[in-house]
Amino acid sequence: MIITTDKRTARIPLPMPWGWFHVLYSDQLAAGESRPLTYFDQELVVFRTESGVAKVVDAYCPHMGAHLGYGIRDNTGGGSSVVGESIVCPFHGWAFNGEGKCTDIPYAKNMPPKVARGEQVLGCWQVREVNRSILVWYHPHGVDPLFEPPVVEELADHSGHWGELSLHQWDIGTHMEEIGENAVDPAHFEFVHGTDEIPNAEVLDFNGYERRGFLKTRQPTPKGVVDATIENLNFGAGIAVVRFKGLIDTVLMAHVTPVTNEFTRAHYAFLQPKPASEGMARLGKALVDNICQQMEEDKIIWDRKKYYEKPLLCDGDGPFAKFRKWYSQFLVE
Ligand code: FES
Ligand SMILES: [Fe+2]
Repeated sequence: MIITTDKRTARIPLPMPWGWFHVLYSDQLAAGESRPLTYFDQELVVFRTESGVAKVVDAYCPHMGAHLGYGIRDNTGGGSSVVGESIVCPFHGWAFNGEGKCTDIPYAKNMPPKVARGEQVLGCWQVREVNRSILVWYHPHGVDPLFEPPVVEELADHSGHWGELSLHQWDIGTHMEEIGENAVDPAHFEFVHGTDEIPNAEVLDFNGYERRGFLKTRQPTPKGVVDATIENLNFGAGIAVVRFKGLIDTVLMAHVTPVTNEFTRAHYAFLQPKPASEGMARLGKALVDNICQQMEEDKIIWDRKKYYEKPLLCDGDGPFAKFRKWYSQFLVE
């Protein structure tokens, strides 16, 4: 009998996970600005009110279905206009606040009953702005947030110790769980990334919606190989904070956001101390470049691989079952 892999099942038979997900960096949205977003398999709009609060609502206007994220006339090429605390539809000028209520119909003498009663007429999303990032809560059943995103103290430190954020983004053709599984896959480092040393997690804790990994590693530097550590903290499926300690301390905010169940956008933001010398600047950049290079390498696999519910594992493989058990809490149909 010839055994072949099953061609009948979907490549990615998993739903999008729930949780907090990055959609924009704070400084990418000024007060009074709006932008269209495509995440969670739907069209959305993010806007910042004139008082400075980031809001996310469904994209399609409840009046006649225009997209609220694309401006017209003076705003052509940008987002639609924001007046006060509301976003204004480019089609007929109806205005909606971040709670999805219609706050103005400029030409109506009598408001439609729902509007007159102050009812919500447009879908709105829970938003948090923390760690210089705008995060949106997604849950397929509309469940309210089950946890809060963490505060990363290095990002709130304005003492001048830290440099600018270095931002990187990848669009990856797979489910977010596949990307997370890298952390528990020691064997792939040699074959995909060409590293001779297989990083082995010394600590791998699964605790409710959080996960912590810690490992000791060796950093090659011009001053020789130095001892280093990597701590990985996950908060739900969408937020990871990774701290590299060694010659160059680096904080990586690794956000992944589902565009659909089989398409993921990874947003990486690296924070490093302001370099004390040219040499340190080069070292810092090399560390970031190395991680970005690894993402490019992983992406070749991720873009094409199939998700197996029951992979054929061997004793040298990582704790995939533990990881998947933890992750499965975020997957509801
Ligand atoms: S479609 Fe938005 S105001 Fe008419
Ligand atoms: Fe990898």
